[in-house]
Amino acid sequence: MRRMILVLLSVVMVIAMVSVAYADVKLPEPQKEGGDAIFALLEKRASGTRGDFPKGEISIEELSSILWAATGANRGGKGWTVPLAGGKEPYVKVYAVKRDGVFLYERKGHSLKEISNKNVFADITGDGFVRDAPVVLIFVTDTSNMGSMSGMNAGNALAHTAAGAMSQNAYLAADSLGISARYMVSMKTDAVKRELKLSGEDTPLCILPLGKR
Ligand SMILES: Cc1cc2nc3c(=O)[nH]c(=O)nc-3n(C[C@H](O)[C@H](O)[C@H](O)COP(=O)(O)O)c2cc1C
Repeated sequence: MRRMILVLLSVVMVIAMVSVAYADVKLPEPQKEGGDAIFALLEKRASGTRGDFPKGEISIEELSSILWAATGANRGGKGWTVPLAGGKEPYVKVYAVKRDGVFLYERKGHSLKEISNKNVFADITGDGFVRDAPVVLIFVTDTSNMGSMSGMNAGNALAHTAAGAMSQNAYLAADSLGISARYMVSMKTDAVKRELKLSGEDTPLCILPLGKR
């Protein structure tokens, strides 16, 4: 009897472990050529407006290109698409919130690591147009890559500077693909921390809803 209970308990534990094993997604190669020229993009750069923010779906190829623009590896793996202090590894992480879950962009493998399979749109924002966007990027400090800068004002400034460069790259790449973005600091911070499963000092900096026009 005791043995049977032990076997049953093991089966239940295996099922529980399998059910929380989330799926990672290898992203397709990002677009690295073509598109509108940089000066033409700058001339028309604009944030998607709150009143009529587009709701069109974003393909995995488009998301791949926007994430790579935001902080992908370039120069054959020797650098990044944005400048970073002290030649450090990027110290701002990018999460992609989609209807099918929450994902962390893993730069080195150019993949998405699934953090949860929950639809968290209604939890993380009070803005209806953000809830209706197909994808929201969330930029978060990565204190594990900040070294001695972590927790210091200078570290905070560096992180915000990086998030600004990253989001501007994302704006321009998105616009070239016919996708609108909007840089926003308003979010439900406690819910974001909970749903992204942030640990320690990692702090959400800004969000970027995306929608195809
Ligand atoms: C630091 C910063 C914080 C912002 N926060 C918000 C925000 O919380 N909500 C919002 O709707 N827009 C936010 N915006 C977007 C601006 O309102 C938007 O860029 C502005 O309306 C100018 O429009 P444009 O980008 O088309 O020139 C923010 C922009 C910046 C630079």
